Amino acid sequence: MRFIQATILSALVMPFIAAAADPVAASPAAPATAPATTGPSTDEGPVTMADFVTSCQTPGQISLTYSEGPSEATMEMLQTLKEANAKVTFFVNATWLQYMQYAGVARHAHVDGHLIGMTYRLPSDTFGSHTDADIKEDIARASRTIQDLTQVYPKYMKVHESNLKDARLLNLVKSMGYTLVGFNMDEYDYKYNTAATAGQIAEVYNSMFSKQMDAYGRKASYVVAGYDVPSTGAAAGLPKVINTIQSHGYDMVRLDGCTNDKTPYKKDPITNDGFVGDAKSFGAAEYKHGQKSVSVTTGPSNQKGGVQGPPGTGNTAKTTQHDGTPKTASSTRLTAVASTLALVPALVCAYLL
Ligand SMILES: *[C@@H]1O[C@H](CO)[C@@H](O)[C@H](O)[C@H]1NC(C)=O
Repeated sequence: MRFIQATILSALVMPFIAAAADPVAASPAAPATAPATTGPSTDEGPVTMADFVTSCQTPGQISLTYSEGPSEATMEMLQTLKEANAKVTFFVNATWLQYMQYAGVARHAHVDGHLIGMTYRLPSDTFGSHTDADIKEDIARASRTIQDLTQVYPKYMKVHESNLKDARLLNLVKSMGYTLVGFNMDEYDYKYNTAATAGQIAEVYNSMFSKQMDAYGRKASYVVAGYDVPSTGAAAGLPKVINTIQSHGYDMVRLDGCTNDKTPYKKDPITNDGFVGDAKSFGAAEYKHGQKSVSVTTGPSNQKGGVQGPPGTGNTAKTTQHDGTPKTASSTRLTAVASTLALVPALVCAYLL
């Protein structure tokens, strides 16, 4: 158990260090076309840190990812993203799609051209007496719920933090053909979670970009972890975040643009039967990346009321208020460790100077 936890800690921390230490600079002899080690894995062995997408193939790219939605926060974010003409990735929690208001949000996100992935968490956070086949079916059920709205089965997956130590689940998910997603930047939206503090989220980006540029004189690439639930500042902070990305000259991409993946969806929710793209996937006619500045308004801009569900579904779905609880104490600690270690190269530089 201890070994597995150490491995997972590495999975979270090492990519962070790798990004900070600029692997491009560390291996100047590598041809520009060499396959990056951070893309989706094609090997079939047990899950290692190399299986997690934690950075992009192209320096200067930034992939914003949001987990635990859809929620009221997602609705607000879709408006901001539309104004910015920017695309992100949403890891949908299929549980919420049984509510019409959130099903509508997820469908709108897909129609707007954002990439839809899925989150997964073991029932009761444990295999218990479940077999691998039971869990595969549970994952497939969530995947089909999403496909019902988007017409495609998600391929990119975030496994709930409390399960990162569970090698059995990770290996199972990998064997099904899912691509595991990690991150090399935490936007701390669960910390800056009030109207008064959400503006600080943009400062996290600003600081990250500036330190990178100071140290290496060039851009890195980022996969950012965020939470699109109302208990975080993700939605309120987004306009300023986009403007900060724009002012530093980074390019916002969906995860498929980040990994140069033309087939970001699965053909089948259970079996590893290959992948498909759609009209908006990387390399396809309607694929979009980049952003433009947006207006930053102060005060809550939260949309009230539900987004319309698909026509003809009637008004019988349950309604609820979704106020997720995205973070566990242990994941916060991991993040703190990662941030501290990321500072080490900067400190070394300061010392050498
Ligand atoms: C989805 O949301 C439900 C309800 O809050 C929660 O019980 C479940 O653990 C969540 N799933 C994931 C993958 O986080």
